[in-house]
Amino acid sequence: MAYPFMSNKQSQQDPQKGNKSEQFSSAGFILAAIGSSVGLGNMWKFPYVTGQNGGGAFFLLFIACLLIVGLPVLLGELAVGRGGRGDAVSAFTTLSRKRGWGVLGFIAVLAAFLIMTYYSTIAGWTLHYAVESVSGILFQSGDYAEHFKLFTGGMMPIVWQIVVFALTGFIIARGISGGIEKFNKIVIPGLLIILLVMMVRTLSLDGAAEGISYFLKPDFSQLTFHSALMALGLAFFSLSLGMGAMLTYGAYVDKHQSLPLATVAVGAGDLIYALIAGLIIFPTIFTFGIEPDSGPGLVFVALPAAFASMPYGALFGGLFFLLLAIAAVTSCLALAEVPVAYIIRRYNLGRGKATFYVIAAMYIIGLPCTLAAGGVLEGATLGGRNFFQWIDFLTSNVMLPLGGLFVTLLVGYAWKQSGEETGLSPLWRSIWLFTMRIIAPVLIILIFLSSIGLV
Ligand code: PHE
Repeated sequence: MAYPFMSNKQSQQDPQKGNKSEQFSSAGFILAAIGSSVGLGNMWKFPYVTGQNGGGAFFLLFIACLLIVGLPVLLGELAVGRGGRGDAVSAFTTLSRKRGWGVLGFIAVLAAFLIMTYYSTIAGWTLHYAVESVSGILFQSGDYAEHFKLFTGGMMPIVWQIVVFALTGFIIARGISGGIEKFNKIVIPGLLIILLVMMVRTLSLDGAAEGISYFLKPDFSQLTFHSALMALGLAFFSLSLGMGAMLTYGAYVDKHQSLPLATVAVGAGDLIYALIAGLIIFPTIFTFGIEPDSGPGLVFVALPAAFASMPYGALFGGLFFLLLAIAAVTSCLALAEVPVAYIIRRYNLGRGKATFYVIAAMYIIGLPCTLAAGGVLEGATLGGRNFFQWIDFLTSNVMLPLGGLFVTLLVGYAWKQSGEETGLSPLWRSIWLFTMRIIAPVLIILIFLSSIGLV
């Protein structure tokens, strides 16, 4: 019987065999992995979640989660990718030597596929805001909540989502080194430069001191058990864990690449981008009297107001939304590559065709996502959630923790050589294995139970 999650013969082959373009260079790999992790998670989700959880103390908790659970699981995913030499499904079956484990890998493929359907909606919004900011249209209305509502209820989000899909498909179809690596190599350093320029500007605002102290000065009385779980979930999302993205990228590096080094580089990169995002956003909102806990609309509703009252606001606004869009696209590449890699091997297709099918299928689900995020389907709810909210809930709160858990179980229990693949020294290897066997699974199960409302 053929199940979609079972690897066929093709999937056992080395994806790099005879195909030089299907491989990252060492620096390209690290930049692409940073590109995958840095995205809307750092610049759109991180500030508002930090704002809702009291600021500085939450940031410390986020760092703790990143170090204690995030980095070990990241190393695990990279090792599974390189050791399994394939897509998420074939890596799980090859390494566990059990076909049934392929189902677990398949859940990761499905998660990446579904995340892309709504991630592309928000990525499209950022592109629109970049254009409107530079052209000045954004600042004409003065009522940014109303502007946001009119925009999300209109036709433009549909157009911009198509642009995001087209761009993602175009880059992915060009392959690993000629597409994904090339794009990341140009934009990731560029992104850092734009962010630093923005940061210099925001740090000289009147409310900078207040914003910085809110963001970096811990007030532990604000923390609850729930904030710890939020921090762990955010660390996972932010590092792109639990949906096969790092695993799939890990399959495109050779044995000489140090995986611990890549892990530290990605962790540091992700943290630095989150830190800079916080140093841009908190001084800005404190200067312009915006509430830090105003939720997901923080970036789209509050920041335009701030940019409008800033000298050179159109320019800074345009830069900010443009870099948000770029960061989102580098994450889209990682998200889309997970199902594309799977389809290539599973159905023995060429990269171009596989990309086309995956992007087309994503769009079929992505369109109702966009329509539900402020458009005609917004009010069409089932059990209190509309289509967009269901996809977000199911992926972020259910599939992602499960995907992360499966990785810890695979490397902790089923795949006996996982420690060797990491290249860690014996002492670090035993610490890492202990984390993967006990600490990470227990914490992940806790987040999972809490996010579905059981704890
Ligand atoms: N890490 C990305 C972000 O912070 C989101 C993402 C998740 C990207 C999973 C790829 C895979 O926005």
